[in-house]
Amino acid sequence: MELVELGLSRLEDMLAVQPRDASICQSELSSPGYLVWGALRKEAVIGYVVVDSRITPHEIHMIAVHPESRRQGIGFRMLTAVVAKYRSIFLEVSDSNTAAQKLYARAGFREVGRRKAYYNDGSDAILMQVGDEIVMERNISET
Ligand SMILES: CC(C)(COP(=O)(O)OP(=O)(O)OC[C@H]1O[C@@H](n2cnc3c(N)ncnc32)[C@H](O)[C@@H]1OP(=O)(O)O)[C@@H](O)C(=O)NCCC(=O)NCCS
Repeated sequence: MELVELGLSRLEDMLAVQPRDASICQSELSSPGYLVWGALRKEAVIGYVVVDSRITPHEIHMIAVHPESRRQGIGFRMLTAVVAKYRSIFLEVSDSNTAAQKLYARAGFREVGRRKAYYNDGSDAILMQVGDEIVMERNISET
């Protein structure tokens, strides 16, 4: 597995990994504030992780692995590569998404807070972080 930065030409590949709003994916691939790291296997995108670099610590916006490639350690390898690169990272995960919570815990993330009934389905957002950087600064001027 190879981890490379993805650009706009990979929009269809990104959507094939995980169905999401195409305009959001397009914005992630084209905005300088976002970094999209893709896991390639024989040139094909089998997973990706979106990092919002406008924020300190950086935030993982999304991580996804193609359904046919799950439970092979791809998510874990992408996550550990991103943690090694950026050191301090923050993210939010639904308390109903057990797979993602387990993945994050395995990669060293710890719960630092909760937002009650944050998602449309009524589930809580669990705030998780890895690294020592606990000060959060949001610079929205670059959006
Ligand atoms: C969450 C996701 C990225 C995990 O990717 P993955 O490549 O399958 O994960 P890995 O194979 O690296 O698994 C690493 C660990 O995470 C945990 N895990 C992953 N998937 C799991 C599942 N379905 N159920 C329980 N634990 C799971 C396990 O602890 C696993 O270690 P193990 O296989 O040794 O038991 C993938 O399921 C996915 O794309 N889900 C849809 C998108 C999503 O929900 N993203 C997160 C929210 S933004």
